[in-house]
Amino acid sequence: MTSASSAAPFKRLEGKVAIITGGASGIGASTANLFHEHGAKVVIADVQDNLGLTIVDKLGENVSYIHCDVSNEDDICNLIDTTIAKHGKLDIMYNNAGILDSEYGRILESKKSDLERVLAVNLVGGFLGAKHAARVMVPQRKGCILFTASASASVAGMSSHAYAASKCGLVGLVKNLAAELGQYGIRVNCVSPYAVLTGMSGLSGPDAGRAEMLLSEIGNLKGHILKSEDVAKAALYLASDEANYVSGLNLLVDGGYSVVNPSLMKFLEQVKK
Ligand SMILES: NC(=O)c1ccc[n+]([C@@H]2O[C@H](COP(=O)([O-])OP(=O)(O)OC[C@H]3O[C@@H](n4cnc5c(N)ncnc54)[C@H](O)[C@@H]3O)[C@@H](O)[C@H]2O)c1
Repeated sequence: MTSASSAAPFKRLEGKVAIITGGASGIGASTANLFHEHGAKVVIADVQDNLGLTIVDKLGENVSYIHCDVSNEDDICNLIDTTIAKHGKLDIMYNNAGILDSEYGRILESKKSDLERVLAVNLVGGFLGAKHAARVMVPQRKGCILFTASASASVAGMSSHAYAASKCGLVGLVKNLAAELGQYGIRVNCVSPYAVLTGMSGLSGPDAGRAEMLLSEIGNLKGHILKSEDVAKAALYLASDEANYVSGLNLLVDGGYSVVNPSLMKFLEQVKK
């Protein structure tokens, strides 16, 4: 009999093959680490080759890197086909790559070209990833397609219009794909984080620390600062068999931010003073 202390930790993705787009940095990199820790064979797809290859060097043989611009259908095709050639199957397709145009972008200052650039990566990239994953998952009669959307798809005014539109589009795509692909045993879900300090912010060192504290102060849940590892844990749940009847879900990782509006209570407290 194995004692509790010597038992191997429960690996929630043992034997599964996962692609993570945008896996070279931030939420994607944390998810690559966590999926690998849980026994998955991980393929990181990104445009930041040096960062991606550094993760491969660190994690070893069960992790590989493929250069892939998610807005380019040929790159996505190559990503899926290379993964199938190497591993023989695809269990998890995590469409996580994304870009931010501007945090504030007002409509009168917004350019059509910015909208197109953001949609091309965040929405079209996710669409193409799902399409080519479904191409191999439908014959398998199972699979899990995940996306990173955003709390800004649930709360207005948190981001630029282009970014919000791209993430609202993803949440709609999740539901529509869940409707079509359920008959093939394919689950489709997304995680929607509140603000997390990652490569996307362009901040580092003390500036990043200060920004994290401020974001935490305006967040709803106190006593914990949201990290990319927390989002990875939500993705792990959705990717694992523990979520084997969960589909069409937009899992908000936002400490309740999207369902709370404290402004009226604050106003009433001010009036009472
Ligand atoms: N950080 C946040 O506050 C936050 C909040 C909600 C949602 N998100 C979403 O989380 C996802 C991951 O972002 P992050 O915060 O980890 O930022 P990040 O910048 O650290 O990571 C994004 C990754 O996507 C890659 N990428 C960008 N364009 C690409 C393309 N065309 N093809 C392939 N890869 C590409 C980047 O190289 C990078 O490695 C994004 O979809 C983002 O919109 C982030």
